[in-house]
Amino acid sequence: MEKKMKLKKPIVRLLQVLGIIGVILLVLVGFYFYQIHTLEKIGYSQKASHNILFSFKKDYIMSIGENKTLNAAFESIDYEEKNLDRYQKIKFQNQKHFIRNINRLIKIGYSDYEISMIVSHGDDQAVSDFTKRKKIRYLEEFYSISYAKLENYDRYIQYMDNSREDEETTVLHVNLDLDKEDYEDSVEVKNFSIDMFVNKHHGLSKKFKVDDLVTINKKYTVTNDKVQANNEAYQAFIKMQKDAEKEDMHILVNSCYRSYEDQEQTWATYQKLYGDNYVLRYVAKPGYSEHQTGLGFDLASTTSNIFAESKESKWLFDNSYKYGFIYRYPKGLESITGYNYESWHYRYVGKEIAKYIEDHNITFDEYYIKFLDKS
Ligand code: DAL
Ligand code: ZN
Repeated sequence: MEKKMKLKKPIVRLLQVLGIIGVILLVLVGFYFYQIHTLEKIGYSQKASHNILFSFKKDYIMSIGENKTLNAAFESIDYEEKNLDRYQKIKFQNQKHFIRNINRLIKIGYSDYEISMIVSHGDDQAVSDFTKRKKIRYLEEFYSISYAKLENYDRYIQYMDNSREDEETTVLHVNLDLDKEDYEDSVEVKNFSIDMFVNKHHGLSKKFKVDDLVTINKKYTVTNDKVQANNEAYQAFIKMQKDAEKEDMHILVNSCYRSYEDQEQTWATYQKLYGDNYVLRYVAKPGYSEHQTGLGFDLASTTSNIFAESKESKWLFDNSYKYGFIYRYPKGLESITGYNYESWHYRYVGKEIAKYIEDHNITFDEYYIKFLDKS
């Protein structure tokens, strides 16, 4: 009996100790999850919350509240405590090496504002490349322009030094590759869309397919040849044409869709007739013509042989935007559009874009750089 009691006592004590440890552990685990939950509630991920707790920064984070850049910092292996106050002031970007790049940019000596601009003007790769450069001049002037691109920085500086243009014009021109030769380093536009952009630096392959290609009724064409167009553009043309008729004007289509091979033919014909200098200024090389999109319309009128002098031409100039068409190659803007003034060439872009271009008196090239360029 005595022996039994002796054996029991240490076991009971052990159980007591284990019980107390268990309770303490439970309280700690409960406390841990409660803290994680508090941080998650204000927008931090579980991983970030865990790292915040174990670096004893919970009070700091609670005093700031939700902050995506801080969340990314605490999720990242690149987190540096000495940069904590800086992270929270930098606008978040979803980039793989976001925190590592911020650390590097801080080290180079950029301000929070400059870093926010840098990381928002390029993708992860462009920003990473940029962090390998020494501190640069004129940063603010360029990067307060939303469509400035990090990777074009050297070209901006060079273009501005040579042309003496202001920063905004410089960014527009360089993004349009106007500092390069015609057709140099061109990119391929693969998909059809009403707002697609084709010029001497944005080309189409031989196989490019136009959506909804339809044949234009012969009553709207100049010759008896088959002329095709994208259907949405064609319907808009008919509407425009009918309204013009009401004012006793007659608009016809001279040319619209031209395949790659058709454009080869057009190029060769005009080159033979007028020579290199003419074709380079009036005709796109095969693969670079808006006509290959089925959205470019060469218009004509029945009232005058010189279209630019016809009343239809004047009416179109003032009214085409209401139907979604723009006057694509305006006078005096050859340096931007790449083509001499063409009074007859209209481009369907849809009503919204056409109205913006009309209201702001800009070219489609400028519109593209400001709003459509995703490269
Ligand atoms: N004439 C226009 C520019 C073209 O060939 O597409
Ligand atoms: Zn044309």
